[in-house]
Amino acid sequence: MLKVALPRLRYHPGHGFSAGIEQLWLEVGFGGGEHSRAQAAANPQAGLIACEVFEQGLCSLLAALIPEGGEATAGPPENLRIWPEDARILLGLLPQASLDRVFLMFPDPWPKARHAKRRFVHPHTVELVASRMKAGAEWRIATDDPTYQSWIGEVFGAQSAFDPGTPRTERPPEWPATRYEAKALAAGRRPLYWSLRRM
Ligand SMILES: C[S@@+](CC[C@H](N)C(=O)[O-])C[C@H]1O[C@@H](n2cnc3c(N)ncnc32)[C@H](O)[C@@H]1O
Repeated sequence: MLKVALPRLRYHPGHGFSAGIEQLWLEVGFGGGEHSRAQAAANPQAGLIACEVFEQGLCSLLAALIPEGGEATAGPPENLRIWPEDARILLGLLPQASLDRVFLMFPDPWPKARHAKRRFVHPHTVELVASRMKAGAEWRIATDDPTYQSWIGEVFGAQSAFDPGTPRTERPPEWPATRYEAKALAAGRRPLYWSLRRM
């Protein structure tokens, strides 16, 4: 699946999406890919680049997109492409002010303070993401991890590129569910949902 199907679905920086796709969206760490698929299906006007480094996650998304036996032939959805590497590498390759929306759903929390640099929300990464987003663009973040929740408040409280707003305690209806969210809710944890606006 990875060898045969991934090359046809892989995002190539500089090639973009086909005509008629007006917006560029990015999902960081799509896990099983449910959220990416739901967003791409509901938003044909947006080209979504779905990033994931975990092989099993890549296989899940490919399997859901490509019917069995169609690995070499099935036409991929026009508006969904995969970046099978660290999203930060892709961000470095995208043009300035090119992204209309970014999703970071339930990022790996790295709860120990000495691992804080591995968190995706980090002053350096926030600066990188900000540089690639258009003015007015939205960055959605959700997490159930209390350390990460405070960390988001801390990091976004110390910058001026985004208006962090106030996180919601219920998932907004237009946000598709994710597998990690389901696990968190089943375990009695309380996610928070941010909609940050690029200034
Ligand atoms: C906790 S899981 C959440 C998955 C999914 N978003 C969900 O809510 O079900 C975080 C995922 O992010 C991926 N990931 C972490 N850092 C990443 C990065 N820098 N670039 C791309 N994927 C990343 C991990 O491999 C993992 O699958």
